[in-house]
Parts: sequence; C-alpha cells; structure tokens
Amino acid sequence: MMTEEPSGLIMMTEKDITILGIESSCDETAAAVVKNGREVLSNIISSQIDTHTVYGGVVPEIASRLHCEAINGVIRLALKEAGTALEELDAIAVTKGPGLVGALLVGVSEAKALAYALDKPLVGVNHIEGHIAANYITHRDLKPPYVCLIVSGGHTHLALVKDYRSFELIGRTYDDAAGETFDKVARAVGLGYPGGPKVDRAAAGGDPQAIVFPRGEVREHPYDFTFSGLKSAVLNYINMANMKGEDINIPDLTASFQQSVVDSLTSRTVSCAREYGIDTVAVAGGVSSNTALRREMERCCRAYGIRCLFPEPVYCTDNAAMIASAGYFAYMDGVRDDEAMNAYPNLKLCTGQ
Ligand code: KG4
Ligand code: ZN
Repeated sequence: MMTEEPSGLIMMTEKDITILGIESSCDETAAAVVKNGREVLSNIISSQIDTHTVYGGVVPEIASRLHCEAINGVIRLALKEAGTALEELDAIAVTKGPGLVGALLVGVSEAKALAYALDKPLVGVNHIEGHIAANYITHRDLKPPYVCLIVSGGHTHLALVKDYRSFELIGRTYDDAAGETFDKVARAVGLGYPGGPKVDRAAAGGDPQAIVFPRGEVREHPYDFTFSGLKSAVLNYINMANMKGEDINIPDLTASFQQSVVDSLTSRTVSCAREYGIDTVAVAGGVSSNTALRREMERCCRAYGIRCLFPEPVYCTDNAAMIASAGYFAYMDGVRDDEAMNAYPNLKLCTGQ
C-alpha cells in the first residue's frame, strides 16, 4: 500500500497504519480509529455540553469526572464501529495539551495504560496540531505548505504549515480567542452556552452593517488579533440600550458583531497567504464551522485565486479523528512517548512545550 511520509513523499510500505486517537482536553470525550492518517474508520464523541449548559460554561471538575465515566465506553464503541481489535492497533495517540489539566489527565492516563498493557507505541499530540490535521481527513490531497487559521474556544492562531509537523506562528490573539468572544457575546445577549453556534444562527436573520463595531488591530503586529475592544463595544452597546430602555435587535447585533470577527480573521489570513506566496488556505477549530466566516473566507480567497479549505463540521469542533491523524504524522516521524508523559495544560504550537 501507499502511505504519505511527513516529507510529502509517497512511500510503499508493507502495511496500513491504524491509530486509536483519544481526546479529552475540554468537554468532549472522544475516541476514533483512523487508517494512514486520513481514512476515518470510526469517530465517537460523547459531549458534556448539556451538563455544562446549566452552569453557563465548562466546569473543570465536572468535566474530569464525566471523562472518567465515559472514556472506556467511548473507546469500546470506536473499536467496535471500526471493526478493529485492540491488538490490531499500531499506536495509541492522545491529546497531551493544551486544555484543562484534570480533563487532559483522564485521556493521558487511559492512553498510557492501554499502551502499557498492549505493549504498543504511545504518541502524545498537541491539540492545536490536531485541529490543523482535521483538514487532511476532509481533503485527502492536502499537502503542506499552506496557511492555516486555527480558531477555537481557546486559541486563535495564524500559522504557516511548512510541513506536516513544522509550523511557523505568524499571528495569534493578544487577548480572547475568537470562539471565547462568540461565547461571551452570546451570554451577554442571553443566547446561552455554547455561544458560537447560537450567534451564528441568530445572525442569519440580521444585517451585518446595522451597527459599526471596531475591527481590533495590534500596533506593529499586523497578523496578530485582538477581540477585547470588540467585546467591550458590544457590552457597552447593550448597556446603553438597557439604560435608555430601548429594545435590542438581536439578529442585527449578532450579525454586526460576527462581521467584525469575520473581517479580522479573513483579512489577515488572505494577506498572509499573499505575502508568503502560498496558494492554499485552510481553516480549522470550532469557529471554522461559522457560516459567515466560511462564506467570506471563500469569497476573499477566490478573488486572489487562493484555494480555501474547511473541515467537515464534525471535524471542526473537538474530536479524536483529528488527534489520530496528527498522531499518524508524528508516528511516521518516529515520535514515541513513554510513561513519563504528562498532561501539559499550556502546551504551545511550534515550541513543543
Ligand atoms: O475547537 P473547539 O470545539 O474547542 C476548543 O478547542 O476550544 O471550539 C469550540 C468553540 C466554542 O467557543 C464555540 O462557541 C465555537 O467554537 N463555535 C462556533 C461555532 N461553532 C462552534 N463559533 C462560531 N460559529 C459557529 N458556528
Ligand atoms: Zn479544540
């Protein structure tokens, strides 16, 4: 069979590489079986959203406990759906960070125990690299180099993907992540948690030009993002309206807020691709399922002849197939973790720490 090496070379190897991916960094307990980094045999996600919704956000202690309860069943189901026995796996890949430490520890401990009991290789995966790898699943022909915008609840990164495991961070957020901003604005207007999909839906009926909100810029760092000014502007608008006793038009407010975020994300991503002479842009992370972002990024990329890619919605938000995919490229690169592996809540992209 043919497999793809991290170098991009197509190699003839003797057998398929089947990896079990495990993800527990936040509020989804997930396991997936993926063949050769791109072919998903199963992808099981047990979401805790209903429990956390009651509290208006993720409660770390509860997240850890729910991961503990769900993880064995989720893995059993992933193996069953894939028709793969534990002994047939080539490696166990697990998210080692960043994320909530107690939540991460559940997946990391499970993966270490499985790797030890089965005597299989263990591969720790950076969650952000996992989000990037989601595009390899949806777009089987995607190869570096390309520009990747990673927009999730915890991160907003603009990265140049030089090779499967080589990234250059071009821009990042100075304050809130894009998804976090969606969640905070949703809470302020009473849409509840998780905010991103709710704002997306509410904005569909609104006018994005109705209210002019700022587009945050970081002086002398044209590729960095800042969303705190936008968040304050939205909160001020709501407070002013409440003080004056005026009704707030939720569709117009959410559409105008969303347009500001989308403009900031799209303009920097497309400028980056043009400046670095890259002809492909990929977007990843929970916010990459946003309707307006997809529409605007596709429109801007088309104007400059840039290919624009998004994962299928199920691979945008947290899942274990993306972890197995990133784990595959690490495995092929010779990465092997051992029982000393820990959970790294502040793990960064690029530095490996
Ligand atoms: O990648 P993800 O599942 O988890 C993290 O790694 O953080 O991203 C979750 C984030 C949440 O902030 C959620 O509100 C946001 O992605 N999100 C969206 C949409 N769907 C999820 N934001 C905007 N529009 C959406 N359709
Ligand atoms: Zn994530």
